[in-house]
Amino acid sequence: MKKLIVPSILSADFAKLGDEINAVQEAGADWIHVDVMDGHFVPNISIGIPVVEAIKSIGPPPMDIHLMIDNPDEFAEIFIESGQPFVKLVTVQIETSKLLYSTLAKIKSHGVMAGVALNPATPLSSVEEILTYVDLILIMTVEPGFSGQKFIKTMIPKIRRLRNIIDKSDNNKPLIEVDGGINLDNIRDVAEAGADVFVSGSGIFKTKSYAETIQEMRDMVEIAGGKHL
Ligand code: DX5
Ligand code: ZN
Repeated sequence: MKKLIVPSILSADFAKLGDEINAVQEAGADWIHVDVMDGHFVPNISIGIPVVEAIKSIGPPPMDIHLMIDNPDEFAEIFIESGQPFVKLVTVQIETSKLLYSTLAKIKSHGVMAGVALNPATPLSSVEEILTYVDLILIMTVEPGFSGQKFIKTMIPKIRRLRNIIDKSDNNKPLIEVDGGINLDNIRDVAEAGADVFVSGSGIFKTKSYAETIQEMRDMVEIAGGKHL
């Protein structure tokens, strides 16, 4: 499957959010990553329902909604309804979902991909029982809450271990997404470890040419192709 480059709009200029989304769309973004934060699960408050509704009106790339909130079971479907027909994926944090199995089922009932995110300190064993039901596993490569943080290098072996688990499984093969501190300096290593979907906030929005950066990221991922270690 094609590897995906996904700008996180948390690093965009919010005073001209529509223009920023159009710009990354023209620059070749596969999806856009929408970080929803509630000030409880993470120490920051970001994008909510009215913003997702507004984004919808500009005909955006497919939306990848990352719920960093205490009650994702309650809100997953509301976010899907706010962003349809542009919602491609909704990801909930495993640390905070109390009814994960039903929440994933509800997300999928809308024809939307269902993802599960793991914070850096959350072990891979926590997803063992739901591997069969998820479309994507998001490995957080920073502590969630803010863009512009430093990539945690020890997440590379974690990605590699997850790649092995998925490759060995006979059943469902969820995609591996990475999020946090991904930029041109580390995307190749992350790709070699086995990631499929690369979220990048400041790594794209803080560069001069979004198109050049996205293309260079694609080239790096391409070079890493087939070299999963
Ligand atoms: C962090 C968010 C990330 C963040 C990525 O909590 O989940 O999506 O916006 O931004 P960078 O790539 O700058 O770390
Ligand atoms: Zn995110």
